[in-house]
Amino acid sequence: MFGTPLFNSPKILLLGSGELGKELIIEAQRLGLECVAVDRYQNAPAMQVAHRSYIIDMKDYSALMSIIEREKPDFIVPEIEAINIKALKDAEALGYKVVPNAKAVEITMNRELIRRLAAEELKLKTANYGFANNLDELKKVVEKIGYPCVVKPIMSSSGKGQSVVKCEEDVERAYKIAKEGARGYGDRVIVEEFINFDYEVTILTAKTVYGTYCCEPIGHIQKDGDYIESWQPHNMDEELKDKAYKIAKKVVDALGGYGIFGVELFVKDNEVIFSEVSPRPHDTGMVTLVTQEMSEFEIHLRAFLGLEISTKLINLGASHVIKSKIEKFAPKYKVKNVPKDVKIRIFGKPKALVGRRMGVVLAVGEEAREKAKKIANSIEVL
Ligand SMILES: Nc1ncnc2c1ncn2[C@@H]1O[C@H](COP(=O)(O)OP(=O)(O)OP(=O)(O)O)[C@@H](O)[C@H]1O
Ligand SMILES: [Mg+2]
Repeated sequence: MFGTPLFNSPKILLLGSGELGKELIIEAQRLGLECVAVDRYQNAPAMQVAHRSYIIDMKDYSALMSIIEREKPDFIVPEIEAINIKALKDAEALGYKVVPNAKAVEITMNRELIRRLAAEELKLKTANYGFANNLDELKKVVEKIGYPCVVKPIMSSSGKGQSVVKCEEDVERAYKIAKEGARGYGDRVIVEEFINFDYEVTILTAKTVYGTYCCEPIGHIQKDGDYIESWQPHNMDEELKDKAYKIAKKVVDALGGYGIFGVELFVKDNEVIFSEVSPRPHDTGMVTLVTQEMSEFEIHLRAFLGLEISTKLINLGASHVIKSKIEKFAPKYKVKNVPKDVKIRIFGKPKALVGRRMGVVLAVGEEAREKAKKIANSIEVL
């Protein structure tokens, strides 16, 4: 499928073609960019709006390098974590621009490297942590960190492979879950102190040629490590918000490059605790499609293209995910009674799986959270 890119317009190679990539490509199409989408399965959401697509395993070095060399993109834009990092580094060394840069992608996909940067180099407050390569080591690290604690693979996303260890009997199971949910880096796991936070927020932070800017805090609720609902703004005490912005800017400036980053923070009493950061739009940030003058997708794109951005909030709003309760190829959606201040975004994933995120409902106004939740729960995946 070919569209009509502008003559000499930049070309982006999107690595990962999920719902976040789809919104990014829609913005890129509006600016006349040439868009090439990559994922491991046919008809992934972003492929449906791109000019062309490729289906490969993005952890495969030679498959990824051949596409980069064939397409010669102006920007390589990672949308997921599970990407062959050597290919990104080699591409960067050959002169390709990786967004925000290959090192930032490498650090943030690896829970060990981001901890070392945040806690040890930048001296940010994080949950206490330790690492283990096997069950015996894990038992020792868990004893040291104490109960409850959280065991996670070094690389994973959306809560995969993650579990809370409440007592000694949970350790073996937690290790098994982590090994099964890991997306790379062998069987090494991180153990984190469980933070009984008051709330958690994402601070979307844009690094641009004009400076580093934070969006209003986004509050969210996660179930089993996966995002269910988010809202913006999350009202924070001014002092805590100031602390949160300082942490976000510090991390993002250390990672470097241009683009938007989702900085995940826990707040407990008077403390802001750094959790992790994505060097790309964040799933909880889908709410910005209705709350900000520029969504996180438009900001990301404009930031790496060198254009000015706005982080201005224009509405109170909320998002709630639509999850499938069934497994079904080519699912349909039954939607009824959608109020005018509610929007539905179906991602168009070709296959529904139990618990898979299939769409999101966005609402604005004082009652946004309740509305988004009600409509999302009323949508049936058939
Ligand atoms: N140490 C912790 N203490 C308390 N809760 C935690 C801790 N670590 C993670 N969580 C909870 O689990 C959620 C997911 O954790 P985390 O962000 O580390 O995983 P993830 O799989 O990388 O998620 P994603 O990539 O979707 O952001 C957090 O947003 C938080 O709600
Ligand atoms: Mg997270």
